Amino acid sequence: MFIASHDKDSAALADMPLVRRLARRAMPGPIRRRLGALLSRWWTERSPACAYQRQVILPRIADRGGTVLLVGCRSYTAQEPRFLEQRGVRCRTLDIDPVAAKWRARGRHVVAPFQQAPQQFEPAQFDAVLFSGMFGFGVDTIEAQNASLEACAAILKPDALLVLGWNTDRVAEPATLVNLRAFFRASNEAGFAGRKTFARSTHIFDFYCRRVACVLPFLDRLDRYHPKI
Ligand SMILES: C[S@@+](CC[C@H](N)C(=O)[O-])C[C@H]1O[C@@H](n2cnc3c(N)ncnc32)[C@H](O)[C@@H]1O
Repeated sequence: MFIASHDKDSAALADMPLVRRLARRAMPGPIRRRLGALLSRWWTERSPACAYQRQVILPRIADRGGTVLLVGCRSYTAQEPRFLEQRGVRCRTLDIDPVAAKWRARGRHVVAPFQQAPQQFEPAQFDAVLFSGMFGFGVDTIEAQNASLEACAAILKPDALLVLGWNTDRVAEPATLVNLRAFFRASNEAGFAGRKTFARSTHIFDFYCRRVACVLPFLDRLDRYHPKI
């Protein structure tokens, strides 16, 4: 693949067969992959959803303060941990891919499937979880999505914030997920209310709060969702 469609807004470019064919003819593999990664980062960083995450969501999360988990690390998110830490936020990162650790929060990164987050963090440890570009990019099945939401509820404080970024061309509407309804309610917090959509983009941000009163029966069932790695 010329441009990794791993990055949430680069799929359109990656899916162009002509671009892929020309690149394959014109360049040797390693150069093609390096150029693909650079182009992918450039493309993704300029997407409206990424710009919104960087310019609006992160500053608002910084204003709230506390302890924050950023799920999924890529080159275009590499500045996010430092941005938050410089503003007094205690920031953690998590990614299943060991390679993604190069874009981590220094000294505060976990390599694990997010479904195992309750085994990695204290219960109700976080004031916010930024969970964007995960559904359809590794957390794909309904079961995995529900397991992620359960894990997320376990590590969020009651009433704490879940920023759920997802793509309409990757997964079905998450609002129908059983565990989203069971453990979360739509946020009405200023700056984090409703749904944010973008013209000419399939990316959407939804804002939720962990329900105060909810039963979290996950701890004895985690290995069913994702075996320990
Ligand atoms: C498209 S990137 C999203 C990056 C970033 N969160 C964002 O805002 O765009 C998806 C990332 O999720 C990671 N990932 C996929 N499945 C995962 C899982 N089950 N648990 C943790 N990380 C996972 C991948 O390794 C990749 O780094």
